[in-house]
Amino acid sequence: MTTAVTIPRHGGTGGRTAVAARARQVLKAYGTGETRVVALDHVDVDIARGQFTAIMGPSGSGKSTLMHCLAGLDTVTSGEIFLDETEITKLKDKKLTQLRRDRIGFIFQAFNLLPTLNAIENITLPMDIAGRRPDAAWLQQVVETVGLAERLKHRPTQLSGGQQQRVAVARALAARPEIIFGDEPTGNLDSRAGAEVLSFLRKSVDELGQTIVMVTHDPVAASYADRVLYLADGSIVDEMYNPTADQVLDRMKHFDARGRTS
Ligand SMILES: Nc1ncnc2c1ncn2[C@@H]1O[C@H](COP(=O)(O)OP(=O)(O)OP(=O)(O)O)[C@@H](O)[C@H]1O
Ligand SMILES: [Mg+2]
Repeated sequence: MTTAVTIPRHGGTGGRTAVAARARQVLKAYGTGETRVVALDHVDVDIARGQFTAIMGPSGSGKSTLMHCLAGLDTVTSGEIFLDETEITKLKDKKLTQLRRDRIGFIFQAFNLLPTLNAIENITLPMDIAGRRPDAAWLQQVVETVGLAERLKHRPTQLSGGQQQRVAVARALAARPEIIFGDEPTGNLDSRAGAEVLSFLRKSVDELGQTIVMVTHDPVAASYADRVLYLADGSIVDEMYNPTADQVLDRMKHFDARGRTS
């Protein structure tokens, strides 16, 4: 079944905007004087709700920095970041921590599962910590979509890499975040396990209405996305919709070592 489901968000007004997150003139500089590095150079970007967006670009181009700033994991030097209507660049620490916990999901390269907990305990852990009761029907839907129904009592060491990462993806989805960010979520997986996880991310967008932003180096991974953003030297220099792996690879060949179009 591929019917798109409209998901009522917890505490939501039901009237969310079509843009899940946006950056306005975001400048991020590290260090001062001679060691100053501009990681993001006045970036403007809109992340569409219910879409799968990939961020690509050469090493050091600012991909992780952009993702961290959008996700409220890092501060900006100047500019504004919004999650839906909330300006997160205005929030104080405590409110920001709360917002990350309640409205954002994360999937990292290292799965970050707790070894002493089984799969389902790992999936519900963030909600347990927040004192929130998981919605049983939703949890079941997530577990079935992720294809882990038979493995819920297994601990991480009893699961393959792909299965562990799918647990991490289910954990991110279980709390119904408005947006999920992944920094090379398939970077540690072989191509088959990577494909498993990417198909699942794709499915969560198509069938659960999830919004996903993923940093990747891999043209095949990027081809699962609806849109690819290309970063170079801290700026968005190009974008592509409904990419194929060949098109992405071809586009990458046209960037020189610093990422500028040659
Ligand atoms: N904490 C930091 N202090 C100083 N400079 C930093 C810091 N973090 C990142 N940078 C610099 O900012 C720039 C962008 O880094 P970023 O990690 O966003 O790149 P990236 O595109 O994710 O690269 P990669 O593909 O290698 O992960 C780089 O030049 C990097 O050296
Ligand atoms: Mg990075």
